[in-house]
Amino acid sequence: MTASARPVVSVTPNPALDITYEVDDLRVGQSHRVSRVRERAGGKGINVARVVRALGEPAVVVAPFGGRTGDALLHSLRADGFEVAAVPVDAETRRTVTVVSGGEATALNEAGPALSAPDWDDVVGVTGRALEAPGALVVSGSTPPGTPPDLHARLIEHARRAGVPVVVDTSGPALLRAAVAGPDLVKPNVDELRAATGETDVVVAAHALLERGARQVVVSLGGDGLAGFAAGAQPWRVRAVPGLTGNPTGAGDAVVAALALGLVAGTPWPEVLVRATALGAAAVLADVAGDVDLAAYERFRPTLTAERYR
Ligand SMILES: Nc1ncnc2c1ncn2[C@@H]1O[C@H](COP(=O)(O)OP(=O)(O)OP(=O)(O)O)[C@@H](O)[C@H]1O
Ligand SMILES: [Mg+2]
Repeated sequence: MTASARPVVSVTPNPALDITYEVDDLRVGQSHRVSRVRERAGGKGINVARVVRALGEPAVVVAPFGGRTGDALLHSLRADGFEVAAVPVDAETRRTVTVVSGGEATALNEAGPALSAPDWDDVVGVTGRALEAPGALVVSGSTPPGTPPDLHARLIEHARRAGVPVVVDTSGPALLRAAVAGPDLVKPNVDELRAATGETDVVVAAHALLERGARQVVVSLGGDGLAGFAAGAQPWRVRAVPGLTGNPTGAGDAVVAALALGLVAGTPWPEVLVRATALGAAAVLADVAGDVDLAAYERFRPTLTAERYR
């Protein structure tokens, strides 16, 4: 990536303190001694910011923080060196618990607290102020219950007024509504794309989002790589790095980081897609969501090419 010094502002509407327990031989209905506990700041926008920073570029995390878990999350982010535009809220921030046993991970994810309407106004306002040094805006991940339906639209509108490109990674009705607000790019995975649009064909489904208003649609296809669509332009695909095994959770967040940095730097589209694919693969090789294997990223990049889709 080229040095830009223009930050990626990454909004996480539903951050989490991720807690990982390691136990021997997990069994339902039994007590277990935990051999190791780890805590880390999580949530998709935070993962994106982590990858942006790993690539040597600046990122600002915008998120609501509430209660003791919110304090712990904020502390953890700042200890990791993140620049945070914190939105203090009353509702307790959620936790996710992952139990790792025998090489398998069992996840227990809290849905996240409902925030008040003034809290959401603060999230939008703080994001607007963070966009004063323009780079790109990323809005990633789920939204907690009760989130105003126009949250993404309001964030996109702020970015448009600031002249900043926006990448949205979300699912379900929020993805459809976000597309209508005209973001520069949406990044569903193939399951999210099909579920939101009700179309099974990837090309038809991607065009459904373009027709709603998204300027570009990048569909991540897991072990099949990714495909990029833009209205009236040639669609591209990049095949995945073959033969990889690892942890695919967070690979999509790494893709979003590469797409946002590509928009900031004005990198040609096929090259952005190649970088995104290589970075997704580099995330698969890292154990924890939000981490990437940078040496693998550099190794993979020259092996990939963007080709015309169908
Ligand atoms: N098994 C794999 N082998 C090679 N590359 C992979 C593999 N899985 C994922 N990738 C790369 O990572 C990218 C993103 O993966 P995926 O489509 O699974 O994202 P996602 O479902 O949004 O993930 P998440 O939301 O957990 O971050 C893919 O487009 C691909 O380039
Ligand atoms: Mg994803």
